[in-house]
Amino acid sequence: MRIRTCRVNHMTESLGFDLGSPTFSWVVDDVGEAARGRIESRLVVRSGAGVACDTGWAELDCAATRPGVALLPRTRYTWQVSVRDEAGHVAEGVEHSFETGKMGEPWQAAWIGCDEADGRHPTLSRTITTRPGAPLAAARAYVCGLGLYEVEVDGRLASTEHLAPGTCAYDKWLQVATIDLTGALAAPGEHDLRVTLGDGWYKGRFGFIPTRGGYYGDDWSLIAEVHLTYADGSHEVVATDESWQVGRSNVTFSNIYDGEHVDATLPAVEPMPARLLDPEEAAARTARLRDRLSPAVSDHELFSPTLVETPAGEKVLDLGQNIAGGFRMRVHEPAGATVRLQFGEVLQDGNFYRDNLRSAQAAYTFVSDGEPHVLRPRFTYYGYRYVKVEGVADLRPSDFEGVAWYSDVETTAGQIRTANPLVNRLVENARWGMRDNFVDTPTDCPQRDERMGWTGDAQIFSPTACYLGKPYAFYRKYLHDMALEQEGLGGAMPMVVPSFGLVGAGSVWGDATVVIPWNLYLFSGDDAVLREHWGAMRAWMDHVAALDGDDHSWPSAAAHLGDWLALDSRPGKDERFGATDEGFVAYVAYLQSARIMARAAAVLGEGADKARFEALAEALLSWIRSEYFSPNGRCCIDTQTAHALTIVHGLADARRAGRALHDLVQAMGGQLTCGFVGTPVICEALCRTGYERDAYQLLLRERQPGWLNPVIQGATTIWERWDSLDEDGRITGTSMNSLNHYAYGSICAWLFGWTAGLRPDAAAPGFARATVAPHVDWRLGKLEATFDSPRGTWRVAWSVSGERSVRLELTVPLGCTARVTLPHAPKSAWLALAGDASDDRGARGYVELEGGTYAVAYEATVALRRTLSLDTRLSDVLADSAAVAAIEGIVPHLHLAMTPTELHATPLRELPWQDLCHRPLSAEQQRAIEAALEGLSDRRYGEED
Ligand code: BGC
Repeated sequence: MRIRTCRVNHMTESLGFDLGSPTFSWVVDDVGEAARGRIESRLVVRSGAGVACDTGWAELDCAATRPGVALLPRTRYTWQVSVRDEAGHVAEGVEHSFETGKMGEPWQAAWIGCDEADGRHPTLSRTITTRPGAPLAAARAYVCGLGLYEVEVDGRLASTEHLAPGTCAYDKWLQVATIDLTGALAAPGEHDLRVTLGDGWYKGRFGFIPTRGGYYGDDWSLIAEVHLTYADGSHEVVATDESWQVGRSNVTFSNIYDGEHVDATLPAVEPMPARLLDPEEAAARTARLRDRLSPAVSDHELFSPTLVETPAGEKVLDLGQNIAGGFRMRVHEPAGATVRLQFGEVLQDGNFYRDNLRSAQAAYTFVSDGEPHVLRPRFTYYGYRYVKVEGVADLRPSDFEGVAWYSDVETTAGQIRTANPLVNRLVENARWGMRDNFVDTPTDCPQRDERMGWTGDAQIFSPTACYLGKPYAFYRKYLHDMALEQEGLGGAMPMVVPSFGLVGAGSVWGDATVVIPWNLYLFSGDDAVLREHWGAMRAWMDHVAALDGDDHSWPSAAAHLGDWLALDSRPGKDERFGATDEGFVAYVAYLQSARIMARAAAVLGEGADKARFEALAEALLSWIRSEYFSPNGRCCIDTQTAHALTIVHGLADARRAGRALHDLVQAMGGQLTCGFVGTPVICEALCRTGYERDAYQLLLRERQPGWLNPVIQGATTIWERWDSLDEDGRITGTSMNSLNHYAYGSICAWLFGWTAGLRPDAAAPGFARATVAPHVDWRLGKLEATFDSPRGTWRVAWSVSGERSVRLELTVPLGCTARVTLPHAPKSAWLALAGDASDDRGARGYVELEGGTYAVAYEATVALRRTLSLDTRLSDVLADSAAVAAIEGIVPHLHLAMTPTELHATPLRELPWQDLCHRPLSAEQQRAIEAALEGLSDRRYGEED
């Protein structure tokens, strides 16, 4: 056995976070001698020489153990886990640590600020003298600067974090960071401590309602305490007060949307004493200070660009990947020369382009003083792949490095490889969508004048995020902001979080407050987030109930966005809402939330709420049925999204809805028309009702609308719209058209959950038990999915060869259970996989497998490769609208659908063509049909047409 991935509150070696009653987690891998029987664990938490907690040997939950450690402020803890099995094998984990922040301790520091000075961003500084004699044991800075801040000691950055303190509902709380300054202050003597402030989300232009000087504030301010602890035990605190000096940096302008201006020629100014904030305002700000929840935004992947000389004569650097982040660039230009960088996502006609960023300037300007410099943005970030460079005489791409910035979230927990490189790239594009939109808050996009925490986008993508990575700590901070915003709105939800004044979310967007915590619980097995967020979840449900009233007013009581950006819009409506009735979407989302609430209440032991939400769910279901379904159960809204929702939420007879959905997909020639609401569920709905071929048809479609068309066009992220660029690569509009919006990346949840078939089980969350029910497809050929769950790595791999040979491999982590369903398998395959246990399969449809590695190969009970020819039976041809259209295009006056049913079992070749179309098939027509059908037969990527 080996212990790895040791986390506290889902973070590694955290420093200064608000941990509440901390949750410990770790993973035990079965390596070497196989573990036997029950596994017991022991968790010991120490602070210094003392033991803060020792669980003793017990059956601890490795996904979430909360032993109730009472933490002290500004204290470093170490912790270690050991495990043993029944055979007496023992494994000891490595020692890990975490450290608390101020935990609400009173502040000795005062808020200090300064005046405006032609936009020059202030640098607040003070000399710190560390005592000679006793060596410094530890130095920590506890800091919050508004809008943004960077701390330097002796001219060096003290932290690798960008854009601190991040974005939050600044009017409700302010995040304090803890910075380890031990190394920086180690040498005894004088040190220069400087904090430069920027505008950021707090004070800079941001959001749709730009008030003067920013939405949350209009001043620069700082509070900081540096705690010095010497080896002899003595302790000293250096705090912000009037003795601090205010100097001016060379940053003359910055904000999130427009970028940053730096003028290196500006003269240094005489430092002025810092100003204390008005006591009332200072007290109000101090009352809002709280240890951080935001994982740090820091450097991740680095990119070396290539240089493109465009037809318009521009010099453009191409990173080859659309990222969110910063850059480093070496420059050495004559004094007074201006270097100007502009950032964009796509070239048009080979030239630099950025009109889809709307009003965001997304630029960096530097006025040179004649010295060499390394440029880097400090108080902004960009969503970009291309950089247009002006003012650099001898531009060498090697002088530029693109740097992806995103929150410290693991983004590689889930991996998918298939035999189709376009699908593989699609998964990576969704992963980049996650990285690029995980800049402290889950944003809609990282480039244009928006970049806000749109709640709908976040909830739609959250299952995919939980498969691709480990977003628990990241979303926890978002949910904290959400709960605070809701508190101020009487339970209502803002459209974006933090709200920036954008309130009044309707369905789906508002339901994020229920759906996201539930997904986190399902995937992690840690109910802490449900406990913390329960009040907000209930408040939203109460809010909707009040608006719905006794007369079902919910559809008209809020700004519902329907099936946002669907392609089936109807005349007379905002074309972005799609054709699916907004009221229907709103009620289905309400129902989904009510069901989640009932289940969450059960988890939390809230019996009365469980009953209340079960009753609500029942009432909503019957209302939905009476309002939107015929008495016999046909959904009256004939859209792909409506039928898909009917299936996945069990609103009516699934078979009937499946057929209707299949018909609509085929009527469109195998295309989807869904928007934000239907897209995440349409492939699941097709799989659930036996139309998995249609689901794969949607996935593998290379024309628009479809997931692979952007990939073919060279996209490296997910687009906001199915046709953000037309098929010739031209941008289709600039008003709302980002190339880095992750909602349609939600297809990854289907890839993991339905093609690999790996899904969490709410009754044993955190993958203690999981479903493994793969849906194989000949056209995709093979798929391998790995997922590093909270209890170890799952692996599902399948391949289809020949017409029907299937091979399936499965790894179930130690201590976990898989409920496995084999696709199209004969009894012998079930027996081979699970021995006697397969006898139970008939009733349950699955076999249960414990931790271990399994493989099975078999001949499927149905042909997996679909081939069409003149020997195909008419019924099979009729099931394929494209085949019918092709044949009818070749044979005039033919209406295949009118063919008498007794002929349906007849191969095409033997049909009485004379009767069907008044003359026999000519040899030429036969050849044409044969060729058309051959063209419609299953193909794999890379096979010749
Ligand atoms: C955002 C979306 C968002 C939508 C809702 C857009 O501007 O970019 O992703 O969900 O507005 O109105």
